[in-house]
Amino acid sequence: MHFTIEQILRGDVPSAGQPPPVAGASLRPVHLRVNGQDYHLQLEPRVSLLDALREFMGLTGTKKGCNQGACGACTVLVNGERINSCLTLAIMHEGQDITTIEGLGTPDELHPLQAAFIEHDGFQCGYCTPGQICSAVAMLREVAQGDASSATTDLTATKIELTDEELRERMCGNVCRCGAYLGILNAIREVHAQPQTEQSR
Ligand code: FES
Ligand code: FES
Repeated sequence: MHFTIEQILRGDVPSAGQPPPVAGASLRPVHLRVNGQDYHLQLEPRVSLLDALREFMGLTGTKKGCNQGACGACTVLVNGERINSCLTLAIMHEGQDITTIEGLGTPDELHPLQAAFIEHDGFQCGYCTPGQICSAVAMLREVAQGDASSATTDLTATKIELTDEELRERMCGNVCRCGAYLGILNAIREVHAQPQTEQSR
């Protein structure tokens, strides 16, 4: 399929990885609650949650990197748990609560992790950042509730110590092509050190 430069500049082309519509494909009603707002959409059943967010709701904060579950750029929270939105269909999340980077904080009132990423230079190009932050929000919650990771040595411990090894393992699904890992880890460490109420503010 070829597009003219005018079509590309107008955005009249499918974004990378988004299949073009199929003639005659049936649309289904889908209700998603995103960042506290209800969206009633008509979608083909094959539309991923990532494409639904970006292409049908205009929430482009969630990024499309690999579109195949390898980079974590598309991480969002579904009912509080982190998932790769490129690997799941929107229709599977009927009525569920979804939080994207747009729902975590505002420019005037940043989420503590957003503020810490700025403070610690946790990004360069910023493409992986929304996914890193959504992932870190859920990851800190997992640590607080005592969920083990494959780096956890004592499975009987009631309190998980967020060592460097734990932190790297728990965030390994989020790749940063710019290599801003040092700042990312420092930002997460800083928020982890804050009282629980501050972390989830
Ligand atoms: S875009 Fe979903 S994991 Fe890379
Ligand atoms: S800041 Fe560029 S990919 Fe992470």
